[in-house]
Amino acid sequence: MIERPYLVIEVRVGHDGEHLAACTCRWLQQQIGKKLADSTARYYLALSGGSTPQRLYALLAELPADQIDWTGVVLIWGDERNVPPDHADSNFRMVQQTLLSKIEIPPENILGVPNPGGPAEQAAAEYEQRLRAVLPCDASGRWPRLDCVLLGLGDDAHTASLFPQTAALQEQDRWCVANFVPKLNTWRITLTAPAINAAANVAFLIAGEKKTDALRALWHGPAAPDLVPSQLIRPTDGVLWFFVDSAALDGVDPPVAPRRCEG
Ligand code: 6PG
Repeated sequence: MIERPYLVIEVRVGHDGEHLAACTCRWLQQQIGKKLADSTARYYLALSGGSTPQRLYALLAELPADQIDWTGVVLIWGDERNVPPDHADSNFRMVQQTLLSKIEIPPENILGVPNPGGPAEQAAAEYEQRLRAVLPCDASGRWPRLDCVLLGLGDDAHTASLFPQTAALQEQDRWCVANFVPKLNTWRITLTAPAINAAANVAFLIAGEKKTDALRALWHGPAAPDLVPSQLIRPTDGVLWFFVDSAALDGVDPPVAPRRCEG
C-alpha cells in the first residue's frame, strides 16, 4: 500500500492508450518547456522500454521543432536488454526508430548503454561511469537527479528491469546494475530503485487490461517489494505520477483522486 502522507502522487486517466499517450506527451512537453525556459538548463529524461511508451515517443517526435528544444534534453535509458543496439529486442533500437531518427538532437545528448550484448556486468559498470560523467546529483550527492524517469509496469509488477526475486532489487549503492532474470533466461542492465527514486518526477505509463492485477498489487497489495518490485518506486524528493488508461484501471481505486486527461 502506498502511504499518502509519504508520497506526492498524481494520477491522470486516459480513456484509451492513444488518449493516454497524447496526455503524457502534453505533460512532458510542458515539463521540458518549463525547465528549458532557463536557456542554460538541461532536462534529464530516462526513457522506458517496452511497447507502451512507443506511441508517446512517436507523438514527441511529431511535435514541431519550436515546441520542444531537443538540444536541451539529455536522454538516458532506464533499462536495456543486454543485446546489440540493432537487435530486435533492443530498447535503444526502439527509441531510435520511434524518436531519435525523427528529431534534431545532439549525439552527445544521447546516453545509451555502452556495448550492450557483451558481458552485462561490464556494460552496467561502463553505463554508470557514462551517467556519472553527465548527470547532476541530488542533494545527498549520492544519486542522479533526473528530471523525469518514465517507467512501464510489467504484468508481474516489475518495472524497468527490476523483476520479482532478482538481485537488483537489493542494490543500495550503484546507479545501475546488470540483473539476471531467470524467467526470461536473460541479462538486463537497469537503473536501481534508489537511482530512480532520486528523480524529481517518476512517471508510470500504464495501459491495457493486462495491467490491472499488477496495478492492484502495486497500489493496494501488501508490502512485498520482492514480489511486487514496482512498490520500491517511491521518490524521496519528487512526484510519483501514474498515467493510466481506463482498461488498466478497471475499477481499481487510485491512491489519490485521479484527474481525467484533457481532450
Ligand atoms: C522493458 C521495460 C519494461 C517495461 C514493462 C512493460 O525493457 O521491457 O523497461 O520494464 O516497461 O515490461 O512493458 P510493456 O509496455 O510492453 O507492457
